[in-house]
Amino acid sequence: MSGPGSAEYSDIQALARFGHGGLKEALFLLLEIADPAAAGDWLNNAPVSSAEWTTPAPETALQVAFTVDGLRALGLDEAMLDGFSEAFIAGMAAEPSRSRRLGDVAHNDPSHWHWGGGPDSVPHLLLMLYARTGQLEARKATLQEDLFNRAFRTVAELPTADHGDREPFGFVDGISQPAIDWERRQTTDLHRRDRYSNLLSLGELLLGYPNEYGQYTRRPLVDPLSDPAARLLPTAEEQPELHDLGRNGSYLVMRQLHQDVAGFWRFVDHQADGDLQQRERLASRMVGRQRDGTPLVAHTTQAIEGIEESGRQADLNQFDFAEDPHGHQCPIGAHIRRSNPRTGDFPPGVTGLLSRLKRIFGFGRRFPDDDLIASTRFHRLLRRGRVYGAPLTPEQALETDASDEPRGLHFICLVANISRQFEFVQNAWTMGCKFAGLPNESDPLLGNRQSLADGQPTDHFSQPDPQGPSRDTQGLPPFITVQGGAYFFMPGIRALRYLAGRAAAKDDSA
Ligand code: HEM
Repeated sequence: MSGPGSAEYSDIQALARFGHGGLKEALFLLLEIADPAAAGDWLNNAPVSSAEWTTPAPETALQVAFTVDGLRALGLDEAMLDGFSEAFIAGMAAEPSRSRRLGDVAHNDPSHWHWGGGPDSVPHLLLMLYARTGQLEARKATLQEDLFNRAFRTVAELPTADHGDREPFGFVDGISQPAIDWERRQTTDLHRRDRYSNLLSLGELLLGYPNEYGQYTRRPLVDPLSDPAARLLPTAEEQPELHDLGRNGSYLVMRQLHQDVAGFWRFVDHQADGDLQQRERLASRMVGRQRDGTPLVAHTTQAIEGIEESGRQADLNQFDFAEDPHGHQCPIGAHIRRSNPRTGDFPPGVTGLLSRLKRIFGFGRRFPDDDLIASTRFHRLLRRGRVYGAPLTPEQALETDASDEPRGLHFICLVANISRQFEFVQNAWTMGCKFAGLPNESDPLLGNRQSLADGQPTDHFSQPDPQGPSRDTQGLPPFITVQGGAYFFMPGIRALRYLAGRAAAKDDSA
């Protein structure tokens, strides 16, 4: 069925549609607004890349996103800010209870972060520069002219590195992404996803469109009678008399995750008594894929909606975990199984009205724990991270003098609902020590290994074994340290120009 028209690509920042994979160099600038009028001028003319397809492909790209403090600095008043989500307004690190839920305690505590952890180090905006190899410095220089220097103060510059398609532990990354329903072909209100579907409504990525619940996410809507400049903004689809500051924008979650690559490979090597095959086996079971990206479970024979029928994406993503309920092939606690359990709205095998009704009334379970995991489609993330630091192979990592220079992942994801998507995945699925009924263990890559309130350790990783008891790996050290983070709003391009105009008006009225 065809929907109410496709997305407005010219008003959407490119990052929502493209990962800029061909632009191997990238630099993230975290900035504070020093002079709102100059910032408004700069932002009004900034060559921000849109999601329109162009040939030839662009040589460079620029994206921009703001924290709530940044929007304040541009002149948005509290009534308008109130239209954004509670998590965005609160920020990633401002509340101890949120930090606890995100696992940002002990060595991950925001008080240790390089940026974003305290009121003085939360940036106002994030500029993301991408360029073909060798062109980044020149691009940066053209952006950072006089006006830029008057407008902004740099909080931090985050360089990135090109490790090919690998993340620093050495695994191919960026293989699985939700397929976004850009053409709005599926209805969002009625689709019942008995099985895992990889197709996601536009409203799970962008504000201003129906989400997987068939509803519009809360965002600031402006009455042009009280603010004539709001006519610059698109109208709100469900309330056309109002203009929509959120439409075509996304929340952008960014976390600087330091990876202890030497620590990771030494730990798995030690567990494997130096046996190369066993070492690879344990490492791949922690991730849920082999290093080259091959998944640990067999392909399903049934087509998965939103996965192409052939090609690399299909080869590496044509699976769910329905035929591996006990985690014999891919451990239940493996990173990819936690971060996307590939569940549908009902447990596997429930199709048709009768079996649905049986399940709704609590009958007909195949396994005692087959509905412990929430339906995946409400908790997907579009990942856009970049790695930093020099590569270190597993072999180099095992040498005694392995370099310990900083390396890791600038984790970035785009979502329309920070708490239901990013925070849920981070809290309930990756940090959660009861995920899918697993006792007291968290994500083998991401876990902070802090004991539970009752003193129970969380530093193990279980691998169910069809031949006997689960094989437990004990004493996992933390491999990841959070070193920065913030919640941003990446506006649509008309909204960006509107915000730039607010900054200029703020200064006039000052
Ligand atoms: C340094 C930290 C991290 C490393 C090294 C890492 C590594 C990986 C790797 C190797 C994959 C498999 C490649 C793929 O399926 O695309 C993957 C997938 C994934 N990761 Fe991470 N990751 C990290 C942090 C995170 C965080 C913080 C989250 C979210 C809270 C996350 C969410 C995901 C998701 C959603 C997938 C795709 C799973 C799927 O759809 O099958 N990752 N990660």
